[in-house]
Amino acid sequence: MSVTVVDHALAAHLLAQLRDERTPPPLFRTLAKRLALVLTVEAIRDLPTTDVDVRTPLEPAAGKVLGDLVAVPILRAGLGMLEAVTELFPEVAVGYIGLERDEASLQPQSYYRKLPPVDGRHVLVLDPMLATGGSGSAATSAVRDGRPASIRFVCVVSAPEGIAKMEADHPDVPIFTAAVDRQLNDHGYILPGLGDFGDRLFGT
Ligand code: PRP
Ligand code: URA
Repeated sequence: MSVTVVDHALAAHLLAQLRDERTPPPLFRTLAKRLALVLTVEAIRDLPTTDVDVRTPLEPAAGKVLGDLVAVPILRAGLGMLEAVTELFPEVAVGYIGLERDEASLQPQSYYRKLPPVDGRHVLVLDPMLATGGSGSAATSAVRDGRPASIRFVCVVSAPEGIAKMEADHPDVPIFTAAVDRQLNDHGYILPGLGDFGDRLFGT
């Protein structure tokens, strides 16, 4: 399995502000979207393209178009990354997977799922936090059932524990992240992390 830590000055700049406890929800949302844009650009770097012929105002030219893309944010926090993808690819199909971690067991509880057909398409699973990896792995399994051509997992901060879980369950799914942090605390939060992404995104 491959883990790409997006090594870009802009990603680092945005992540530092997201981590800052003083960043209020309106700014947090803006920063999350900008960082998701940087991460998405990296995640689709090697997405297959199809050759096309276009005409410039002067003469014919060879071009390339991207393959069929599906974005699947994991609710709620993944919504903070979705707009970056829909702005880059207005024609993207979007599916939703609702998962909430049980506070005691840290196991993901499923409460919603609506996926478009993913057969033969390329899927970006969006979830800013890869902590124990339970949510990321469950969502990836749900997408995999639809037989996509490929799955890429895009997150903001990941923990070694979550990466290990994804590696064990989905070794063929590459992870794109802005940072691999130190560890989880006793409550399953990433250290140093940035706190509860969903709460900070939605001001809850
Ligand atoms: C957070 C986060 C991930 C999950 C990561 O969601 O957005 O989905 O926790 O943890 P895991 O890797 O240990 O599964 P949460 O369950 O808090 O729900 P929310 O997005 O609605 O806030
Ligand atoms: N979910 C979050 O929002 N933050 C963490 O650190 C872990 C899971």
